[in-house]
Amino acid sequence: MRTIVFATNNAHKLSELRAMAGDSLCIRSLSDIGCTDDIPETGDTLRDNALQKARWVASRYGCDCFADDTGLEVEALGGEPGVHSARYAPGTDHDSAANMRHLLRRMDDITDRRACFRTVIALIIDGREHLFEGRVDGEILTAPEGDGGFGYDPLFRPDGWDKTFGSASAEAKNSVSHRARATARLIQYLKTL
Ligand code: IMP
Repeated sequence: MRTIVFATNNAHKLSELRAMAGDSLCIRSLSDIGCTDDIPETGDTLRDNALQKARWVASRYGCDCFADDTGLEVEALGGEPGVHSARYAPGTDHDSAANMRHLLRRMDDITDRRACFRTVIALIIDGREHLFEGRVDGEILTAPEGDGGFGYDPLFRPDGWDKTFGSASAEAKNSVSHRARATARLIQYLKTL
């Protein structure tokens, strides 16, 4: 069985990946390989950040590795918050509520509410780099709905849905989500090796 490192310590992401990969792969976390580095994420794009993290781990720890980066991209804001999604609110308070409040303020007089979530996964395997992407399109409501999920979920309603990700079950969200789509493409590729 192939062993590959997922450059994260996020338990939720790890269990999701392990469930999708089944018995075909052994997926290790950063803590599994003793990596406690504060891995830089200084890119201007999701792609750059995912590659930066994967290259950091692959080159220093000599392993096959993949890393992900996700952002919410609002069309009328030129792709904001994008790579800044996790720390969008000004000041030091960057929890989800503060980030959502900031986004709603920025969109106060905007009627074009189209947005997407996009995940990019960078894989380095046998010394080669590969990229996988998943996205889900939708719109930003004018007030949060639901208290499920995380991040911007209560503000995002996918196209064709009558509720937000924040009001949906985890299963419903995972059936269409950006991360699930990017992950499915990664796993599909890894299973061909
Ligand atoms: P990460 O790259 O997965 O750490 O995501 C960066 C940031 O994007 C998070 O801190 C959240 O604010 C936001 N984000 C990522 N995925 C989601 C999602 O599925 N729903 C809502 N917000 C998300």
